[in-house]
Amino acid sequence: MATPRPIVPHHVAIVMDGNGRWATKRFLPRIVGHKQGLDSLTRCVKACLERGIGVLTVFAFSSENWNRPSDEVSGLMDLLALSLSKEVPSLNANGVQLHFVGDRQRLSEKVQAGLAQAELSTASNQRLIFNVCFNYGGRWDIAQAAQKLASRGEAITELSLDRAMALAHVPDPDLLIRTGGELRISNFLLWQAAYSELHFSDKLWPEFDEAALDEAIAVFRTRERRFGQTTAQVSGHDNTPNTKAA
Ligand code: FPP
Repeated sequence: MATPRPIVPHHVAIVMDGNGRWATKRFLPRIVGHKQGLDSLTRCVKACLERGIGVLTVFAFSSENWNRPSDEVSGLMDLLALSLSKEVPSLNANGVQLHFVGDRQRLSEKVQAGLAQAELSTASNQRLIFNVCFNYGGRWDIAQAAQKLASRGEAITELSLDRAMALAHVPDPDLLIRTGGELRISNFLLWQAAYSELHFSDKLWPEFDEAALDEAIAVFRTRERRFGQTTAQVSGHDNTPNTKAA
């Protein structure tokens, strides 16, 4: 009899932190750390596919990253362009549907066209939804969603905002991982991470391998997700009627 597949989180989100420190420790330019980070990301996508994870969302460039030295910013833009030409054929071959999430207006027209083309060419893939957050910030997302509703004259409710957010095409993340040892969310998925399980890894992103991902998943499995309820309620042992329930 086949061994049952262990439960994995459906949606994993990652703050890929520590590329710069990885490079600095080796007396290398920071951009070498970002290149190594891209390799780590490619491995991570493969690992998610192998583990049956349905959605992967990563923080590749934050709204605040424009404040970095200009050579690092242009290096990250080049890396984005390179990742499109290098990785899209293999993403397609593996059934990965790619989405770029964030404010594209500040990106060059050439990069914007490349992002749109990559999304279009992977749109019918179904195995893994892969969201790359680029020029993204959680506050930007909430503000753009509110602006969208206001411009249409729609009421602002939790549901309408949720549907206007940049990640409306996927359910909220079950597991949010941050590498690099910092204990912060740093303006990532502020709305969507309301009930995500958080996992902080000391590993720098280029060193975050399959074993580190498996450890995060194993920790996730030990967590009790209550979504505001009690332990008895979520375990099905509480028969007290909920008088407010419809
Ligand atoms: C944070 O590490 C990482 C980033 C700001 C960039 C993440 C980019 C990649 C993993 C490469 C993939 C990119 C694309 C374009 C798809 P840090 O630089 O803040 O590291 P530090 O905290 O050690 O300085």
